[in-house]
Amino acid sequence: MDNRYIGVFDSGVGGLTAVKELIKKLPGENIVYFGDTGRVPYGTRSNETIIKYAVSDMNFLKTHDIKLVVIACGTVSSVAIETLKSMFNIPIIGVVEPTAKAAAKATKNKKIGIIGTSSTVASGKYEQAIGEIDKDIFVHSIACPMFVPLAENNMADSEAAYLIAKEYLSGFDGMDIDTLILGCTHYPLLKNTVRRVMGDNVALIDAGKSTADFAAQKLRDENSFAEKKADEQYKFFVSDSVDGFLNVANIFLDKDIGKMIEKIDIE
Ligand code: SIN
Repeated sequence: MDNRYIGVFDSGVGGLTAVKELIKKLPGENIVYFGDTGRVPYGTRSNETIIKYAVSDMNFLKTHDIKLVVIACGTVSSVAIETLKSMFNIPIIGVVEPTAKAAAKATKNKKIGIIGTSSTVASGKYEQAIGEIDKDIFVHSIACPMFVPLAENNMADSEAAYLIAKEYLSGFDGMDIDTLILGCTHYPLLKNTVRRVMGDNVALIDAGKSTADFAAQKLRDENSFAEKKADEQYKFFVSDSVDGFLNVANIFLDKDIGKMIEKIDIE
């Protein structure tokens, strides 16, 4: 048993897709979340900058009593996880491995599409992870850089989002993919829009959900579930105004987190 917090971080609201699943799966756990809303997006930045931001995010989470870190960010998981693991003596889970496993399990025709930020797609980490599971799986990746600002600005279900999604996802035309990895944790917020474009026959693999499942399994294997809820069971921190974050967070988590959230200076 381990009553310490699970630390979760992302560049903004996207990591809430993992938090929502963690809360659903592990209602007894204590969770501290950091969304770097002052520096989002990460996915269009250089690897050097992404690593620098990720290190400061980890240092902030470390100021809490944490037992595990979930990097609920496709970009950091693709670009910085090895560096973080070498620097911090805390168990760290990223989104790539669990999501690749879930997709490889879901595909029937061995044709998987991946969407992610520009940095994630350039890193080739999802392809690599899928190739290690089954080298016969065909993979094609497309960067969708406009999806993050749409999610952050509560426009995920807008007509503009639909038109942009149509343009990006047309890159999969003729490939017969039966499974699509939403390789950035912001993208599940656009699930309805992506579903509208891709139709009902393509399985959408949610990085946040796959990673929460993986984290739950890890706690189970190590018998380190919490047995006691902390006085502040959920704590949320952002690096810019709380208002924009709250608009999306309250709707998405179906919970009023107004009293649980605080703005910090991450710089
Ligand atoms: C971003 O900040 O660009 C998106 C984060 C992610 O890849 O999950």
